[in-house]
Amino acid sequence: MRIDKFLAHNGYGSRNDAKKLIKAKLVMVNDELVTKATYIVDIENDVVSVDMEEIEYFEKVYYMLNKPAGYICSHESKNYPSVLDLIDTNHKDLIMVGRLDADTEGLLLVTNDGQFSHRVAHGKKEIPKTYYVELEEDFNEDYIEVFEGGIMLDEFLLKPAYTEVLTPRSIHLTISEGRYHQVKRMMHYANNQVTYLNRRKIGHLALDESLAFGEYRDLSEEEIALFD
Ligand code: URA
Repeated sequence: MRIDKFLAHNGYGSRNDAKKLIKAKLVMVNDELVTKATYIVDIENDVVSVDMEEIEYFEKVYYMLNKPAGYICSHESKNYPSVLDLIDTNHKDLIMVGRLDADTEGLLLVTNDGQFSHRVAHGKKEIPKTYYVELEEDFNEDYIEVFEGGIMLDEFLLKPAYTEVLTPRSIHLTISEGRYHQVKRMMHYANNQVTYLNRRKIGHLALDESLAFGEYRDLSEEEIALFD
């Protein structure tokens, strides 16, 4: 792995910040001063230090999972297996970025990077999430405007939500927060009932259509950077 990437992965800021550390002659690999950001580190065997302090390598992982129904976004449950059972990894510290109900399918991010998870799920920047929703009754289009205005759900005023009607009984709904059963409760508010729910997008990141239910893949660097 390139040294600038290695440093960025280990909490030394961006790759540009890492380059500055290298320029300042603060980065060593096995007692050799590193002068180029393109230097390749052997993460298994090399000893890297910054300002004389040794770095213990922490590999951050970022997965996109196509969650199937029947799995739960929690570490343990009596009734359902955890989505983490679908991920074949040695990393024991994985967390799910936000939650989907057991019967909801689609895009779920899983990582061991707590800051990333916080940024995506609860950060200051609102990240819209788009759901494909199938309904028991025809969608009443009067609610397009109602949802855009923000509705009260319990004691909370929801942020504007955007509806795209696909067929009389299927819509795309984009919401900016993730309250408990939010989509199902919004449809209830519109005198309707969700019969199928699938998350398609988080911010600009869309579910990779080549992933079958239960499959996952690493996010690319560009995809991770969508949430910077
Ligand atoms: N809204 C819901 O009602 N359920 C989900 O799983 C996600 C959003």
